[in-house]
Amino acid sequence: MIFALSTGNKVGLGLVALAWIVFSLIVSLVVPRYRPNFPGKNLPAFLAVCALFFVSMLAAVAVFGKESSESSAAGESPTQTQTGVTSTTSTAPPTTSGGATVDLAAGKAAWDKASCGGCHVLEAANGQGKVGPNLDELKPDAETVQHQVENGGGAMPPFKGILSPEEITAVSGYVAQEAAQ
Ligand code: HEC
Repeated sequence: MIFALSTGNKVGLGLVALAWIVFSLIVSLVVPRYRPNFPGKNLPAFLAVCALFFVSMLAAVAVFGKESSESSAAGESPTQTQTGVTSTTSTAPPTTSGGATVDLAAGKAAWDKASCGGCHVLEAANGQGKVGPNLDELKPDAETVQHQVENGGGAMPPFKGILSPEEITAVSGYVAQEAAQ
């Protein structure tokens, strides 16, 4: 649980714990040397200090521990959101394949950049290649294109890293749209 605490809370808890430990050590090891009958008549005061430390330790655990579970919950959600965003981005083509949101110019540019036409027939893009399937006949949906372009497959190389995620999304929507006509 300590590992889940944020640094500030760990420090807060640590300081209270440290003060408590130092106090115990002084009381049990140092003070008796000089005042053998300690706590003697100061016993009530000593007990009061002990009780104070005990309560403050409990309070520190309650406060810092509670805060940490809140802040770690808050700290985790951005990560989850980020993962969510990333996966939404990679599965975005279905939404963009609707038509209106497809950036055809960017898609054509990415098509040319990756020389898709060297291996695929796609009339709209002037593709004449016979290495891969004829995309006009295959009529793949954007998701299929995206998956194929990212990962490659068969004799087709992956274009992840060569094309940016935006270019891959664009070319996927472009191919899906042009091949469907
Ligand atoms: C070096 C040649 C080559 C290039 C360049 C190439 N492909 Fe391919 N592509 C292929 C081959 C070969 C296949 C068949 C793979 C198989 O047999 O599974 C294929 C398959 C496909 C498929 C079908 C996937 C499926 O699941 O049926 C799509 C869609 C596709 N390519 C799109 C593209 C796009 C878009 C580009 C440009 C970014 C591109 N390809 C560039 C060779 C190529």
